[in-house]
Parts: sequence; structure tokens; C-alpha cells
Amino acid sequence: MGSRHLLQFLILHLLHSTLGFDELVTVNEGVLRGRLLTTPKNGTFRAFQGVPYAEPPIGSLRFQAPINREPWEGVLNATQDSNVCYAIGSNTSSQSEDCLYLNVYTPILTNDEGSPVPVLVWIHGGGYTHGNALYSNFGPDFLIEKDIVIVTVSYRLGPFGFLSTGDLTVPGNAGHKDQAAAIKWTFENIASFGGDPSKITLAGQSAGASSVGYQLLYKGNEGLIRGAILESGSPLSIWSFQNSSQARQYAFDLGSLLTDSTEFANDSQRLLQFLQDVDAESLHAASNNLTTPLPVKEPVHDAAFLTENQYSMLETGNFIRVPILIGTNSEEEIHRAADLNKLNKTMDQYESNIENFIPSDFIVNDSLNQSDIGKLIRNLYLDGVPEDEQMGHMVRFLSHTTFTNPMIKHANLASNYTDVYFYVFSYDGIMGNVNVTIKGADSVDHAEDPRYLFKKVDSSYSNADLSKFPTSDILTHDRLIELWTNFVKYLNPTPELSELLQNVTWPMFTENEAKYLNIGAQLQIQNNPKNPY
Ligand SMILES: *[C@@H]1O[C@H](CO)[C@@H](O)[C@H](O)[C@H]1NC(C)=O
Ligand SMILES: *[C@@H]1O[C@H](CO)[C@@H](O)[C@H](O)[C@H]1NC(C)=O
Ligand SMILES: *[C@@H]1O[C@H](CO)[C@@H](O)[C@H](O)[C@H]1NC(C)=O
Ligand SMILES: *[C@@H]1O[C@H](CO)[C@@H](O)[C@H](O)[C@H]1NC(C)=O
Ligand SMILES: *[C@@H]1O[C@H](CO)[C@@H](O)[C@H](O)[C@H]1NC(C)=O
Ligand SMILES: *[C@@H]1O[C@H](CO)[C@@H](O)[C@H](O)[C@H]1NC(C)=O
Ligand SMILES: *[C@@H]1O[C@H](CO)[C@@H](O)[C@H](O)[C@H]1NC(C)=O
Ligand SMILES: *[C@@H]1O[C@H](CO)[C@@H](O)[C@H](O)[C@H]1NC(C)=O
Ligand SMILES: *[C@@H]1O[C@H](CO)[C@@H](O)[C@H](O)[C@H]1NC(C)=O
Ligand SMILES: *[C@@H]1O[C@H](CO)[C@@H](O)[C@H](O)[C@H]1NC(C)=O
Ligand SMILES: *[C@@H]1O[C@H](CO)[C@@H](O)[C@H](O)[C@H]1NC(C)=O
Ligand SMILES: *[C@@H]1O[C@H](CO)[C@@H](O)[C@H](O)[C@H]1NC(C)=O
Repeated sequence: MGSRHLLQFLILHLLHSTLGFDELVTVNEGVLRGRLLTTPKNGTFRAFQGVPYAEPPIGSLRFQAPINREPWEGVLNATQDSNVCYAIGSNTSSQSEDCLYLNVYTPILTNDEGSPVPVLVWIHGGGYTHGNALYSNFGPDFLIEKDIVIVTVSYRLGPFGFLSTGDLTVPGNAGHKDQAAAIKWTFENIASFGGDPSKITLAGQSAGASSVGYQLLYKGNEGLIRGAILESGSPLSIWSFQNSSQARQYAFDLGSLLTDSTEFANDSQRLLQFLQDVDAESLHAASNNLTTPLPVKEPVHDAAFLTENQYSMLETGNFIRVPILIGTNSEEEIHRAADLNKLNKTMDQYESNIENFIPSDFIVNDSLNQSDIGKLIRNLYLDGVPEDEQMGHMVRFLSHTTFTNPMIKHANLASNYTDVYFYVFSYDGIMGNVNVTIKGADSVDHAEDPRYLFKKVDSSYSNADLSKFPTSDILTHDRLIELWTNFVKYLNPTPELSELLQNVTWPMFTENEAKYLNIGAQLQIQNNPKNPY
């Protein structure tokens, strides 16, 4: 070591011993360099960003299940965000097919610390088409002050993650298989970061929550997860699946946008060969012109993620029966009321074709008249409702079918087999970033909840400085963090009475007694969430 290097080494070493943290951590595949970050309250934690958990899914791996990452030589710098996965409709320069990375944030600053802490693995939402795990969107800063490890996961989206030919050529669910690989990686490596592999809770919102629900249906996760949080999404949500003929149609439509479709002759192998040879940018551009591919039921094979109907699996207890914390916001579709003309048109479309009121997964006996059924459903929400509340009640119908009803159903089915804590998030604060209201409806929109849990900073929003928000927003933020992290630590959101939580004890949700926690300006235990809707 030259004297200059020695000096550098000493300075570096001195710096680190002053700050008291280890920047290098060894995982199965090699050594990672992380960095120290400071929370808004001046807490410190180590961040390891852009940690690869699988080989880049490129070339012949495109559309297919991920494979284990090869070990790397030397030190891999995990000190900044990785690429993000291609997102339909998005155009950022950091998009890449090489996007199977996760971020680990740990409050444990050195490698020799004694007792490991519980772990929360976060799966982001975005309809299986967009979203990412960037630090700027899902900063762990607040949660980490409760002494848990937080892992945020990227997974393939759009056609890269969910294309399926409906057969074994491209069985589908690659994005869900990515998540499963990240869960396995976390289980195997989290101890190196001070995390407790026996205390991993999987959590997500929207498509992140339906993903969490799907991961619980996957036998490969048995023993890796001990709790789950599902915020506004379930495998029962109508936007979280498609049938294999729809999936196959999408795959061939995508090919047809890029070349003369007669080339494929309805042959999956030919299509795959073509689509794997197209450059990623072109594939991405074409995906912007189509609907979206979604999770599917795969043909039975060893590497399958899902081969049975999700409703039956939940109904028969054929899932990983860990305790779940699950719920919905009070008006998930309230954003529709931001444009009253458009909402009015939507309403017209439903009224003039009454069958539209039937949810797409609703099985109607062929012997019944579809429009009679549609009318029955319509009337549940709109019959006898005063003129000035009609549009508000239309919003209620949309919230209910799209988000709320599947959450309640999921809770109902799961509660037959495991502990279920159900919530309705009804606190309408500025922190949630949606101000829309309409007569006849509640007011907390889809996706307001993560803003109370994670630090988020972008060009139009920041919650990094909590003091800029009303005290009731900060109180709700504190409560949500406390409830969620209690669940991660104790599998019980209210293990003891606390002043912050107004001494409430959150009871379990059961089929016979649908008790839930209403998280409003006050915390209240109530019965029958969103009843009648
Ligand atoms: C954090 O530290 C900075 C610099 O030392 C100080 O100005 C600030 O007041 C501290 N913030 C809190 C919340 O303690
Ligand atoms: C990794 O980070 C270290 C320390 O900041 C730096 O010296 C090194 O050049 C980096 N390596 C790469 C490959 O960027
Ligand atoms: C995407 O970015 C490219 C280059 O920056 C630009 O030419 C193109 O118009 C953009 N497309 C969309 C849909 O914004
Ligand atoms: C698949 O879903 C589409 C759209 O909902 C429907 O029209 C079609 O009948 C379904 N096909 C099968 C085989 O279930
Ligand atoms: C295309 O192939 C699928 C799957 O093999 C088959 O179900 C379908 O009937 C075929 N379509 C045509 C038009 O041949
Ligand atoms: C997608 O649509 C745009 C505008 O409608 C068109 O310019 C473009 O060529 C289309 N791309 C593909 C791949 O079809
Ligand atoms: C909705 O549109 C109808 C005409 O289609 C109109 O009569 C009604 O006033 C509109 N309602 C609102 C609230 O804009
Ligand atoms: C439809 O209803 C009839 C009469 O109730 C019943 O016999 C039949 O099994 C039902 N069909 C289906 C597919 O559920
Ligand atoms: C269904 O019922 C409506 C009236 O409610 C009627 O106009 C329509 O013809 C019926 N359709 C069928 C297929 O019987
Ligand atoms: C609960 O499970 C039992 C069998 O384990 C079954 O008989 C019962 O129908 C289930 N209840 C619900 C609501 O699924
Ligand atoms: C909501 O209203 C508050 C207070 O009027 C304002 O500060 C905030 O910017 C608004 N948020 C949005 C997304 O419009
Ligand atoms: C919570 O319980 C403690 C101890 O019983 C009591 O002193 C306090 O007033 C209670 N707080 C609330 C908000 O009920």
C-alpha cells in the first residue's frame, strides 16, 4: 500500500469508525457495498440499492421464469437505484429489461450486531403495467425508525412480466415468479443485513397487494413468509387476472403489431422466437398500443406459479395460512369525480347498456336474462337515490366492484383458516394527495395509503418534511406506521394498549362477526365494512 493509499485508507477507516457502520455485506453471490442514509428525524440506516436477485431476464430468458444470479467477483456497488422495469405508457431513460433488482434498508449499522429484527418485503403496485421500487417513491425512512428491515422489490411488468401464450411455450406469470425469486433471495440472505429470516412479512398495495395474495397461493413460498399485508388488492380483484385465451390473444396481437401476423400461423413457438428477437424498445413501444397482459392460470408443469382457480384455493384453504392484515380505502374510485363530465358519460354508458353493471368475473347462469341481472345490481346502488347523489353513488358502485368487494370477500374466505385483521382507511388528509369529493360518496382514494407509510419525494409532492402537514395527518401517519410495524413484529397490530392508538384492540375479522378497524380521524372498531357498500 503506497503512503497515499494508506492515508486514504486511514481517513476512510476513521470516517467509518466515527459513523460506526459497515459498508460491505456478503451475500450468497458476492460482496455488496452499501451506504449510510439519514432519516428526516436524523436516524441512520444502511441502504443497499440495486441488489441483483436473478440473472437479467434477456435473450432466451425474456418472458420466462427468472434464474439464479451467477456470483460476481469483487465488490458490487449497491449505492444507487437500479434500472426500472419497462412500464407501459412510460418513457424514462432508466427503463431496461435488465431490472431484477431489490433494495435492502436496514437499521442495523454493523455486521456483528446480535439480535436480528423482523423484515417487511414491499411489492409495489401499478396494475402490473407500471410502478417501480425507487427510493424516491418508497423511502423506508419512517418505517425503519421502528427497527425493522425493509426490502423493496422490482419485477417485470407489462408483456415482459405477464405475456403468456396460454400453453407451455410461455406459461406466463414471469413477474410473479420474479417476486417469488426475490422472496427466496430475501429469506436466504437477509440475516447478513441483521434481518430475521423467520420473521418476513410480505406487503403491497394495489397490484402489489394482489401479488402478495398470489404469493400466498404459491407452494414454493411455504416456510418463507410468516405474515402478509394486502392494501386494496387481491387475487380476487377483477383487474388482477385474465383467462388463457385472452392472454394468448394478447400475445399474438403484440406480434401482429410488429410484423405480418400470418408468419406465426397460430404457432406459439414461432411467435416466441419472433418476440424474443425483437429489441426491447420496439416491444415496449408496441405494448403502449394494446391492452395489458395480466396474471393467468398456467398449464400444470413443475415450474408453474399458479395452476388452479384462485377463488377455489381461498375457499378450500389451499393457501399459505399466515396471519393477514387486509383492507381498503373508503372510496377507491373517488378520483372519477374529478371530471364530472366524464363521470356523467361513464354513467350513461352503464345505464344505456345495463349489463355493464355485471362484474366481469360474475358467473350468470345462461338460463337467466343478463339485463335483468344487470338491473338488479344497478338498483342496489342507484335505486331511489336522490338526483344530486346519483353520481356519488355511481362512484360507490365503481369503488365497490373494482376494489372493496374483493377485499371483503378475500377476508371472509381467508378468515375461515387464519387470523385476519381488516381495516377501512377513511382518514382524508392532505398527505394522501387527493382532494376530490362528491355528494353521496366517501373520500379516500386508491393509493393514498402508501403516502402515510413511505417517504415519497417527486416534482409535485413531498412528505419528507412532516411538519408541513396538519397535525392530524401526522398523527394518522404515526398510527399507520405503528399498526403496520406492530403487525410485522408481533403478527398483531395492537399487541398492547397504547395512547397513540387510543387504547384500541383491533379484533379479528370472522365470517360471523365482520369486525374491522376504521382508520379515520379517530380509530374505531366497527362492524361490516362498507355495508351496504
Ligand atoms: C437533524 O440534524 C440537523 C443537522 O445536525 C439539524 O439541523 C436538524 O435540526 C436535525 N433534525 C432533527 C429532527 O433532529
Ligand atoms: C464503487 O464505489 C467505490 C467507493 O465509492 C469506488 O471507489 C469504486 O470505484 C466504485 N466501483 C465501481 C465499479 O463503480
Ligand atoms: C419517448 O422518448 C423519446 C426520446 O426521448 C421521444 O422521441 C418519444 O416521443 C417519447 N415517447 C413518448 C410516448 O413520450
Ligand atoms: C375469457 O375472457 C373473455 C373476456 O372476459 C371472455 O369473453 C371469454 O369467454 C373467456 N374465455 C374463456 C375460455 O373463458
Ligand atoms: C390457435 O391455437 C390455439 C391453441 O392451440 C387453439 O385453441 C385455437 O383454436 C387456434 N386458433 C385457430 C384460429 O386455429
Ligand atoms: C402505436 O401507435 C402510434 C400512434 O397511434 C403509432 O404511431 C405507432 O406506430 C404504433 N406503434 C406500433 C408498434 O404499432
Ligand atoms: C349529466 O348529463 C346529462 C345529459 O346527458 C345532464 O342532463 C345532467 O345535468 C348531467 N349531470 C351533471 C351533474 O353534470
Ligand atoms: C342454471 O340453472 C338451472 C336451473 O336452476 C340449473 O339446473 C343449472 O344447473 C344451472 N346451470 C349452471 C351452469 O349453473
Ligand atoms: C331480458 O329482459 C328484458 C326486459 O327486462 C327484455 O327486454 C329482453 O328482451 C330480455 N332478453 C332476453 C334475451 O330474454
Ligand atoms: C370454512 O371451511 C370449512 C371446511 O374447512 C367449510 O366447510 C366451510 O364451508 C368454509 N366456510 C366458508 C365461508 O368458506
Ligand atoms: C389539497 O388541498 C390542500 C389544502 O387546500 C392543498 O394544500 C393541496 O395542495 C391539495 N392537494 C391536491 C393534490 O390538490
Ligand atoms: C388509555 O389507557 C390509559 C391507561 O388505562 C389511560 O390512562 C388513558 O386515558 C387511555 N387513553 C385513551 C385515549 O383512552
